Amino acid sequence: MSFMRLPGLIDPHVHLRDPGHTYKEDWDSGTASAIAGGYTCVLAMPNTSPPVTDPDRFESIISAAREKARCDYGVYAGGSSTNTASVSKLSKKVSGLKLYLNDTFGDLRLDGLHSINAHMAVWPDNRPLLCHAEGYMAAVVLMLAMLHRRSVHICHVSRKEEIDLIRAARERGLPVTCEVTPHHLFMTDADIDPIVRGRYVVSPRLNTQSDQNALWQGIADGVVDCIATDHAPHTLQEKDSQNPPPGFPGLETGLALMLGAVRGGRLTMDLLVELMHINPARIFRLAPQPETWIEVDMNKKWEVNASGFHSRCGWSPFEGIKLHGCVNKVSLRSKVVYSNGEVLGCVGNGRYVNQL
Ligand code: DOR
Ligand code: ZN
Ligand code: ZN
Repeated sequence: MSFMRLPGLIDPHVHLRDPGHTYKEDWDSGTASAIAGGYTCVLAMPNTSPPVTDPDRFESIISAAREKARCDYGVYAGGSSTNTASVSKLSKKVSGLKLYLNDTFGDLRLDGLHSINAHMAVWPDNRPLLCHAEGYMAAVVLMLAMLHRRSVHICHVSRKEEIDLIRAARERGLPVTCEVTPHHLFMTDADIDPIVRGRYVVSPRLNTQSDQNALWQGIADGVVDCIATDHAPHTLQEKDSQNPPPGFPGLETGLALMLGAVRGGRLTMDLLVELMHINPARIFRLAPQPETWIEVDMNKKWEVNASGFHSRCGWSPFEGIKLHGCVNKVSLRSKVVYSNGEVLGCVGNGRYVNQL
């Protein structure tokens, strides 16, 4: 059987650049890219320009999304050193609070243990708290979550040492969840082309084969909860500049890469659905989207050519690779919004996804 129906995918980690850098992506192009990749709901990161750190900025990003989104969406708030007390006013509106503990794009990086600790103490335990926390910072986050007896979600885990820590924390009953990206599952530092090194700059960086093996093992063991693209569009001109910003676009390649892994026997289709729909819905407490599904063609072979992608950034780190399996049709709340390579869903079709 070559066609299969799956629930609409949920990507809990995308950067849509609107407001601030809409030449890279906006709510229109980013959600077209999502639908073309099989996602019917995306949760947007707060490191826009300006970042989503207070109620006014939240209202302005939501009004842009309401006008332009083609799929359903949520938006995270960002923790800064000055909003530890005030950001909790947003806790019932946003999809979660994101804390940046390592260098990133934009200026939301939190400096100092004091600010991290204060956010952990104040953000309600029943609302998602997400951390960009690499290496030692993963240990800091787990320690603080333990002290505050709270849940935490660790974004884009990319190293063996991080997976090992998360596994150990879960074995001790800590409510920690985590995600990995398709690029860390399918690329390593050996794939970096030194001639166009900037194109491979991403945060967390591409790591070793042994790190990648640990991520796949974490999927097999149930330590990894979600696949999240960390879709982070920047233009090719920026990536090839002296100071390349970190990030890869990923919405239009993520599912096909994972379908290839199913075909290759690395995971089952049931596990793919858990990682890309069931667990993101559970962790981020998202209300179900009725009559929302995707149809995938397991037999379709295609080659990545980003010039045909919907993302405005116009390139892909997977350019030229051959994939097996693609999205054929997408239904969003009873409406066919994608069919035979065409995005049919209009801007403004997307709805803010309520949290349970
Ligand atoms: O590679 C990345 N890109 N890592 C981040 O932390 C931020 C993201 C972006 O917004 O471009
Ligand atoms: Zn990050
Ligand atoms: Zn990110």
